[in-house]
Amino acid sequence: MTFSVPYRHRLLFTQGLFDPGNPLLADLLGAYRPGVSVRLLFVLDSGVGEAHPGLEGLIRAYCDAHAAQVTFTQVLSVPGGEASKNTPVQTERVLAAIEAQGICRHSVVVAIGGGAVIDMAGYAASIAHRGVQLIRIPTTVLAQNDAAVGVKNGINAFGKKNFIGTFAIPLAIVNDPYFLTTLEDRDWIAGTAEAVKVALIKDADFFGFLEAHAQSLRAREMAPMQELIFRCAELHMEHISGGGDPFEAGSSRPLDFGHWSAHKLEHLTGYSLRHGEAVALGMALDVIYSRRLGILTAGDSERILRILSELGFDLQLPDLGPEGPSVLLRGLDEFREHLGGVLTITLLEGIGLKRDVHEIDRELMAAAIGELMGGKAIHKAS
Ligand SMILES: NC(=O)c1ccc[n+]([C@@H]2O[C@H](COP(=O)([O-])OP(=O)(O)OC[C@H]3O[C@@H](n4cnc5c(N)ncnc54)[C@H](O)[C@@H]3O)[C@@H](O)[C@H]2O)c1
Ligand SMILES: [Zn+2]
Repeated sequence: MTFSVPYRHRLLFTQGLFDPGNPLLADLLGAYRPGVSVRLLFVLDSGVGEAHPGLEGLIRAYCDAHAAQVTFTQVLSVPGGEASKNTPVQTERVLAAIEAQGICRHSVVVAIGGGAVIDMAGYAASIAHRGVQLIRIPTTVLAQNDAAVGVKNGINAFGKKNFIGTFAIPLAIVNDPYFLTTLEDRDWIAGTAEAVKVALIKDADFFGFLEAHAQSLRAREMAPMQELIFRCAELHMEHISGGGDPFEAGSSRPLDFGHWSAHKLEHLTGYSLRHGEAVALGMALDVIYSRRLGILTAGDSERILRILSELGFDLQLPDLGPEGPSVLLRGLDEFREHLGGVLTITLLEGIGLKRDVHEIDRELMAAAIGELMGGKAIHKAS
């Protein structure tokens, strides 16, 4: 017997989401449960709370103004960044709040924050009552263009990224550029790595756009950033809805270019590297490896390293000590375990042209690591 279940994956863009006059959220929830005021539990990234001190007041006022559609219960503040994912403590706090506030399977958890807080809150929501609805409101570039757009939730365990987690389609993702204005410079930059990634494996024209706007993106201009986020998120949405494997039953992870070493680097540096920063290094490494393997031209490799540098990434591997290369190479085995079965690593044959391989020449990779460790891969952009 086979059966299929249709899913709807909604990504919405708006400005001033919690302005009382903005109908988007109220309309969304009104359509979700017509005639019922939906109970909302807000989980807020502490970094967002600090940067936007008036936000809780705005949320309360919004809920009061739209009481027919939504009922405010609580704003639960959780630590921003990996601190929320590195222990089960924050997940348990969200679960406790879900219980205490009477959040049922027809209520909604609204997660507001960076990718880490959204991953954690989404995980908690997905296991409470076997799945409470989730609205994601991503507040970093990386979360708006990548992390929050997918269908994955998770926390870290046993020293491994996202070891515990679930696949669950959120009720909606809502992107509001207003939040991005308060990002630290490094978080503004970090998210652009995922755009370079998706351009490299899927869309050479988008790569051209990134090259043309690297300077203005670096100068924090909002218009090109909005375009970057839109296109990057769109490519992710297309992949999830049209790629045929939204829950990753296969062992290939085409959107994970540069990620096998990135995940390991994040862990090895005690999460002092942001995910996007680690992804930029991971991509640089696999670009150098692709060039050394002879499948990517030196010219293309140079172009890719240059744009990463122009966007503001430091392309020198942090000092991992004498054992560094071999420790990093262990990331390959962990990646295979995480995927299950066959190792599949995405390399590049050109810009917009990927090639999946099932074997890595460890000596060649160690040489690529050496090149990146010495910081010789590229001269830093001035
Ligand atoms: N689920 C997925 O498919 C997926 C995909 C990619 C990445 N991720 C995960 O996303 C996480 C990285 O997310 P990230 O890059 O958004 O970083 P992050 O969540 O670690 O946040 C970085 C910092 O920015 C702060 N912050 C967030 N929004 C802010 C704002 N508007 N103004 C000021 N400060 C703000 C946070 O408090 C934090 O200190 C990693 O845990 C990664 O594993 C998940
Ligand atoms: Zn990523």
